[in-house]
Amino acid sequence: MTDTAIGRDDCLQWDEQDPLRRFRERFTLPPGVIYLDGNSLGALPAHTPERVETMIRREWGDGLIRSWNDAGWFEKPVVLGDRIAPLIGAGAGEVVVGDSTSISLFQALTAAVRLRPDRRVVVAEADNFPTDLYLLQSVQEIAGLELRLVDPRTPGASLDDLLDEQVGVVLLSQVNYRTGELLDMAETTARVHAAGALVVWDLCHSVGALPVDVTAAGADFAAGCTYKYLNGGPGSPSFVYVAPRHQEAAAPPLTGWQGHRRPFAFEGAYAAGEGATRFRIGTPQLISMAALEASLDIWEEVSLADIRTKSLALTDMFIRLVEERLPGLGTVVTPRAHASRGSQVSVRVDDGYPMMQALIERGVIGDFRAPDIMRFGFTPLYTSMTDVWDAVEVLQEIVVSESWRALPAAPSGQVT
Ligand SMILES: Cc1ncc(COP(=O)(O)O)c(C=O)c1O
Repeated sequence: MTDTAIGRDDCLQWDEQDPLRRFRERFTLPPGVIYLDGNSLGALPAHTPERVETMIRREWGDGLIRSWNDAGWFEKPVVLGDRIAPLIGAGAGEVVVGDSTSISLFQALTAAVRLRPDRRVVVAEADNFPTDLYLLQSVQEIAGLELRLVDPRTPGASLDDLLDEQVGVVLLSQVNYRTGELLDMAETTARVHAAGALVVWDLCHSVGALPVDVTAAGADFAAGCTYKYLNGGPGSPSFVYVAPRHQEAAAPPLTGWQGHRRPFAFEGAYAAGEGATRFRIGTPQLISMAALEASLDIWEEVSLADIRTKSLALTDMFIRLVEERLPGLGTVVTPRAHASRGSQVSVRVDDGYPMMQALIERGVIGDFRAPDIMRFGFTPLYTSMTDVWDAVEVLQEIVVSESWRALPAAPSGQVT
């Protein structure tokens, strides 16, 4: 769009040309809601309830135990992994689905550490999502390693400063959950490899938000969730990627029976399953997998290039409108450069919590991350340019009327 002031009509026109427009009706969103939190929990695909009901009534209710074979339950973690693979640039047999991101991270991190037995240091970002830090701290303690934290605010604590011949494994998020900053996966992986270390990527905020290419980047391991941009539903299972070159040597720590080479031989000794299947643990969450399966149907029709183009247009527009119309609101902390931006915009605002609550009361749903970040996630499958316009309009009304002052200044519920 041009540099002159943008109007709502311009946004409507943009939406008419949008190649992803048709996907909006594939989701069920409540009327009157502008949903800008798909980076936390994706929206409900319209056909998911039917798929889950079929799983429960037909596969479980009628099929009972027979469904392990007849409905392909046993293979589901691998079949779904193969369906996620194209979304992250992986090949068949390189991704398995199951468990939670925290568990998948623990599996990948420990396996990576075991591949570098002579190196006694692990590295993580100080401002990564807490579960990543907590899990790496645990791996570090169990294995008796040293942990170094990358912190751009501290002199001498950049990734390059910390990398040396002691470092075995580096854990990084491709998109930072708080700021929305996107790292260059290929360039960063190359730097880590040049130091002789392995890298584990957390893809939670990038899978389904932009084209990801673990193969081209040379990533060693990756893990991610499916309940954000992939729309698999609350608590839907995570996935783990294992580069083919590591598959035969990788030794994940949680050696459950379904990761065994011959699970139904019921042998007393563990023998790791072939390739990435050894990252399976125990009985998978099959009801959640049915919901994930339904959401992946949509992804088979989507061009990730279109997703990226629209995501950048939506976030550009949001940043532009917020800065033009609400110049005193706060600081946009999300990078301006497209190459460094995921699919969310984070604004640092002193009274961000009550302001976000006021927005949610008006049907514009984003979220808040302590101490002062208002997060707005943009999901190209079901967010329109007009939604962006309308959301900023509501935000402006709230700021001008100061209606947020009537709301509690600090969180009362457990989830912000
Ligand atoms: C970067 C990142 N990693 C991990 C998680 C969550 O892990 P889990 O799915 O185990 O709750 C989140 C959740 O928002 C996240 O943002």
